[in-house]
Amino acid sequence: MSFTNTKPWLYLLLLLLFILSFRTQKSKGLDTLAVGQSLSGNQTLTSQGGTFELGFFTPGNSKNYYIGIWYKGLPNKTVVWVANRNEPLSDSSLPELKLFQDGNLVLLNQFKTPIWSTNSISNIAHSTSAMLLDNGNFVIRGLSNSSNVILWQSLDYPTDSWLPGWKVGFNKIRNSKYSLTSWRSPENPAPSLFSFELDPSGTTFMLFWNESKMYWTSGEWTGKIFKLIPEMELDIYIKNVTQVSNENEIYFTYEASFNTTLPRYVIEPTGQFRPYWGNNFTRLGLYWTRPLEKCQVHAFCGGFSTCSQDRSTVCDCMHGFEPRVMKNWELEDHTDGCVRRTRLNCSNGENDGFFMIQKARLPVNSESVAVGSIENCKVACLSDCFCTAYAYDNECLIWKGDLYNLQELSSDDKTGKEFYVRLAESELEPVVNTAKKSDKKAWLIVGAIVGFFIFFGIVMLLIWIQRRKTGTFEGDEGSLVVFQYRDIRRATKNFSEKLGEGGFGTVFRGTLPNSTAIAVKRLKNQEQGEKQDKQFLTEVSTIGMIQHINLIRLRGFCIKGMERFLVFDYMLNGSLESHLFRKDLNVLDWKTRYKIALGTARGLAYLHEKCRDCIIHCDIKPENILLDADYNSKVADFGLAKLIGREFSHVLTTIRGTVGYLAPEWISGEAITPKADVFSYGMLLFEIISGRRNRELFHDGPDIYFPVRVFNIINQGEDILSLLDQKLESNADAEELNRACRVACWCIQFDERDRPTMGQVVKVLEGVLEVGLCPTPRFLQALGENSIHYIICQETSSGSKHMHEDDIISTFQC
Ligand SMILES: *[C@@H]1O[C@H](CO)[C@@H](O)[C@H](O)[C@H]1NC(C)=O
Ligand SMILES: *[C@@H]1O[C@H](CO)[C@@H](O)[C@H](O)[C@H]1NC(C)=O
Ligand SMILES: *[C@@H]1O[C@H](CO)[C@@H](O)[C@H](O)[C@H]1NC(C)=O
Ligand SMILES: *[C@@H]1O[C@H](CO)[C@@H](O)[C@H](O)[C@H]1NC(C)=O
Ligand SMILES: *[C@@H]1O[C@H](CO)[C@@H](O)[C@H](O)[C@H]1NC(C)=O
Ligand SMILES: *[C@@H]1O[C@H](CO)[C@@H](O)[C@H](O)[C@H]1NC(C)=O
Ligand SMILES: *[C@@H]1O[C@H](CO)[C@@H](O)[C@H](O)[C@H]1NC(C)=O
Ligand SMILES: *[C@@H]1O[C@H](CO)[C@@H](O)[C@H](O)[C@H]1NC(C)=O
Repeated sequence: MSFTNTKPWLYLLLLLLFILSFRTQKSKGLDTLAVGQSLSGNQTLTSQGGTFELGFFTPGNSKNYYIGIWYKGLPNKTVVWVANRNEPLSDSSLPELKLFQDGNLVLLNQFKTPIWSTNSISNIAHSTSAMLLDNGNFVIRGLSNSSNVILWQSLDYPTDSWLPGWKVGFNKIRNSKYSLTSWRSPENPAPSLFSFELDPSGTTFMLFWNESKMYWTSGEWTGKIFKLIPEMELDIYIKNVTQVSNENEIYFTYEASFNTTLPRYVIEPTGQFRPYWGNNFTRLGLYWTRPLEKCQVHAFCGGFSTCSQDRSTVCDCMHGFEPRVMKNWELEDHTDGCVRRTRLNCSNGENDGFFMIQKARLPVNSESVAVGSIENCKVACLSDCFCTAYAYDNECLIWKGDLYNLQELSSDDKTGKEFYVRLAESELEPVVNTAKKSDKKAWLIVGAIVGFFIFFGIVMLLIWIQRRKTGTFEGDEGSLVVFQYRDIRRATKNFSEKLGEGGFGTVFRGTLPNSTAIAVKRLKNQEQGEKQDKQFLTEVSTIGMIQHINLIRLRGFCIKGMERFLVFDYMLNGSLESHLFRKDLNVLDWKTRYKIALGTARGLAYLHEKCRDCIIHCDIKPENILLDADYNSKVADFGLAKLIGREFSHVLTTIRGTVGYLAPEWISGEAITPKADVFSYGMLLFEIISGRRNRELFHDGPDIYFPVRVFNIINQGEDILSLLDQKLESNADAEELNRACRVACWCIQFDERDRPTMGQVVKVLEGVLEVGLCPTPRFLQALGENSIHYIICQETSSGSKHMHEDDIISTFQC
């Protein structure tokens, strides 16, 4: 009885559901193309969940049309798959993408001629349809003997992107690869020579040029990461990276951790491989890149070109050569390389000459010739019609055919070799002039430098004589004292009272004859030499000129043989580190902590903004914040990074305390700006608030990384006092605490553009500037300390960009 009663209800409900589901599907756009249907003009398919869209697009400023798949939500069209990479269309209104009865999906041009198709013709399947799925896969299915079969799917033919659920590997049956091939340029999706492939063993990814030359490898799969991509461990946007191996295929695939962050791996037109993600469909971020530098990509600039990281145009044609296809070259598509402006005249070798490149990293594929001098080497090259260049590096090397991978190095690079490119005589004449001119310039520069040092030396000598004469250690306010080694030794009682040890050296306590307390820092690992001495003096005088109430004052220095000493004011209350983390000292109250935070911010703002040369500290941590008798904070160790120079990378990797304060750009290899200090300052501020190391987990509270806890509590409007160091028993100005928490959150934003400047931080802490809620950088949760330490070491050993001395010097000058 009751059955018959409920039946009409059920029907009604089903009907309602049917209508509803029909409606929602319609409002999101179609995801399926049925037999006979076609797409043209601005018609698109949209996947069920609304993530992907398929249709015609034009890349950048190009006038060409392609069929592609892109993220629907992103403001900028980010194309992840292209159908007709090699067959562009000049129009989109007349061409159509059509699914035929036989299961073939065909792109017809304006004359209805097929220019591209999936070749998925099936005689047995019927009721075929083409559907765009929510993982970006475009699938043609048919019914065969009443079972659903896949006739074709786009993820078997990836272009330059690897998305969650997609695969990179190979199909053993069809003997075909699922490999990525880069676009030629951002405006041209045609396949370039660079590809990302799984090696036949199925355990290692490799980057290839022209399918033949391997220029990078990921290292073997360990089951968790690829050995040479340790960053994967930190990547919280992806999960379940899996190697799938069966009788048909071997491939890797992965899943997205969140459905709003859109991770993808891309092989760029530059030949570099990197991951991207889109946060909440708004911004695409960048995390790491391999190879790190464009010049490390094989044949990045094409044939007969030079590559240099120091130029804004990384690629240039060699002297006497010009781009083969100017239009492509301008779009930074260097595939075609450069060609001679004037042909060689081989019938008569005397008509050819050589152009010298002074500092070169030599191209690949040289042949060695057994002749004993550079002159004979030149003759050997001239006498061979195919010889295009020679160099003499203990032996005679000649090159035949196209020259690839010549890197032009900076003039002070000691590894640079002289390299001679063969040119027609007529191309050589203007060269002589330019060479002379640049010679002249070089001499002028050398002269200026020598002059400067002579002048500087005299000044230093005068200062020194002055000091010797007066025999006092108290310099005028603002001038540096040159100490005698024996005075230093006497003051520190033969280095008996050690105050501490840091990355840059050991610090000893000392007392001057007039009973002023000093701290003497003995620097580590100094190189000896005239150049080093001069550099040391320049740096010391720069640091000596910096004076601010919140920066430690350099009183003077001492040079003795290999050893270098810096003499600072002694700080009665030691470092902030001991007050925050050591149990035996008095607990700093909130007022003092706030004063210290504000003072530190002021000191850093001064370093970044007010000094003549901007100085990036690079090592902000509680150990480097010293406290005077009144608990005024004094930032220590600034400028030393530059002073140590070459050893800096070493210092960074060995300072334990530093890990945990490092901004993400240290890992990604981007240039370091003052915003790296802002990040470290944010981390420091968290520790001032909590009285704990950020990397310690809370055993007596929620087991969450402290910065993450702050984000959660301030964004959910919970009791902010619960974040405070428990030793303070909630005795704090809630308004100040709130300000400090918010500004710290902004300081540790992943994108440095989102972080405030130190000047703004000061204003916020002073209460002059308001600050709003900040977004949670998700990457935070994954920052395991050990992993970061590991990555830095890796980068250093493989010669990462910002770890070179030259780069340190240049990035440290804003
Ligand atoms: C599609 O193009 C037609 C004409 O080219 C235009 O009228 C129409 O507004 C476009 N539709 C969309 C959704 O852009
Ligand atoms: C489908 O049916 C045909 C005959 O109707 C048969 O020859 C074929 O083997 C069947 N295929 C499969 C996969 O069952
Ligand atoms: C790439 O390799 C093919 C043969 O595998 C060769 O014919 C072609 O010249 C190569 N391209 C370049 C630019 O060297
Ligand atoms: C991980 O991915 C593989 C391959 O896609 C899948 O078979 C497996 O179920 C996934 N595991 C988890 C825990 O999601
Ligand atoms: C993301 O996942 C949540 C829960 O799993 C789901 O409710 C939501 O619809 C998904 N959003 C998209 C865009 O797929
Ligand atoms: C994502 O963006 C939408 C608006 O497009 C916004 O309403 C939502 O709060 C954002 N979600 C997150 C987690 O930022
Ligand atoms: C979109 O592209 C423009 C121009 O290429 C660029 O300036 C802008 O930053 C991009 N926007 C986003 C959100 O990526
Ligand atoms: C090669 O050199 C000879 C003799 O100098 C000259 O006559 C001829 O025109 C040259 N050929 C080319 C292609 O430059």
